[in-house]
Amino acid sequence: MAVKTGSAGGRVPFIAGNWKMNLDHLQSIAFVQKLAWSLKDARFDFSEVEVAVFPPFTDLRSVQTLIAADKLQLKYGAQDLSTHDSGAYTGEISGAFLKALDCEYVIIGHSERRTLHNETDGVVAAKVAAALKHGLVPVICVGETADDLAEHGPSAVPVAQLTAALAGVAQGANVVVAYEPVWAIGSGQAATPEQAEQVAVALRAVVSSALGDEAGAATRILYGGSVNSSNIAGFLRQPNVDGALVGGASLDVAEFSSISRFKSHVGI
Ligand code: PGA
Repeated sequence: MAVKTGSAGGRVPFIAGNWKMNLDHLQSIAFVQKLAWSLKDARFDFSEVEVAVFPPFTDLRSVQTLIAADKLQLKYGAQDLSTHDSGAYTGEISGAFLKALDCEYVIIGHSERRTLHNETDGVVAAKVAAALKHGLVPVICVGETADDLAEHGPSAVPVAQLTAALAGVAQGANVVVAYEPVWAIGSGQAATPEQAEQVAVALRAVVSSALGDEAGAATRILYGGSVNSSNIAGFLRQPNVDGALVGGASLDVAEFSSISRFKSHVGI
């Protein structure tokens, strides 16, 4: 089966690198420059695959300046945002500030935030609303733990999380969904492409019922969890998997470049 092209379902594949708390602003600049060179050398076509990096907050201004100055086609976003617009919220970052840095995306509800920062489905929904309010596209992360999987099966928890995240979101809103099984994140044990596809189908149905059929067809659903250059093509062969949210492998320029160039991999 062919890997989907930019026109399949109208959904342009999306490769997103979540750097988590890695790379300071100087390292970010060097990384983005090298990534841009690597993709340019490979004659990468950004109209066929969208590539975005998600650096720490303190790097965003540097990344913005570099991308604007060199007219790079790479996109970028933040890893989180506040539910509030401004005010007495020490340590928080407003969506308005991210928009002022020309961020296009913001990751919301990553499992590390749900677990380490006690983010509930209610907080995630408020952050989705805040992102949309400020013109940012939320990359909404959902996923089950190994215990959830054993107890509830593959789709129940991600479906419940996404349903909660989209409650109150307007019809036709522009969102990205990332299915990230917690047991696959950073474990080296990725889900199978078939597992990812099964959950992606269920998540697309949630988007359709919450945001309308058109949004359901247009929304990109990513897989995340131990994605690398060897397994990426298998995920992108699935009709409902439209890209990947990459953690560890996004910190290596050559590896992330190779993941972005999944279409040119041998045998595809
Ligand atoms: P991983 O992380 O690719 O290192 O498994 C994915 C993520 O947390 O987004």
